[in-house]
Amino acid sequence: MMISVPNLLDAEGVAAVRAIIDAADWIDGNATSGPQSALAKKNEQLAEGSPAAREAAAIILKALGNSPLFFSAALPLKVYPPLFNRYGEGQTFGTHVDNAIRIQRGSDFRLRSDLSVTLFLEDPDAYDGGVLTIEDVFGSQQVKLPAGHAVVYPSSSLHHVTPVTRGTRVASFFWLQSMVRDAGARRMLWDLDQSVQRLTGQLGGADRSVIELTGLYHNLLRHWADS
Ligand code: NI
Repeated sequence: MMISVPNLLDAEGVAAVRAIIDAADWIDGNATSGPQSALAKKNEQLAEGSPAAREAAAIILKALGNSPLFFSAALPLKVYPPLFNRYGEGQTFGTHVDNAIRIQRGSDFRLRSDLSVTLFLEDPDAYDGGVLTIEDVFGSQQVKLPAGHAVVYPSSSLHHVTPVTRGTRVASFFWLQSMVRDAGARRMLWDLDQSVQRLTGQLGGADRSVIELTGLYHNLLRHWADS
């Protein structure tokens, strides 16, 4: 399941993140790659754990905490501190799958990557190419969103970023471990939550059926969630 989170960062948030990262030093993107993806990846990245990366990541983590849509889609247990990359002309990231386990260097923080997130930080009209392409059972999904919008997709999917042919693509990317490991269970919770939200709008939160369905959502979450 692939879910877009529009306006995860507002224009002010995007400008704040860009002011921090644009002024920082960028390094070869292969600093975080395993040997297989190192063959496929040609981009630049902010050094993990650098002051600029931490400062910009904090803005994004705060925005994630304020997004009910992100919470419902991902049911996050652990979020890897957001990283930043950029692709200039000719740069690309060929087909790969994300590592199952992400370990933060120099710490004991680790997570199982259930979901991958890309947060777009450049106006899509400012560059050509740079399309995140995610393969799933329904075919290839092409993702290129406005600045401030994010996409959440299965870390298990094969995916790539098409070559940038004009301008620069700037994004944040990170992984998360969901409280609900099983993708099918997570999908059912998402569907149920969307329906309950809609019914709450139509019938009000005091409606008996809305209360019962809300209870069902929470009891399923209790049943499936690890914390
Ligand atoms: Ni990837």
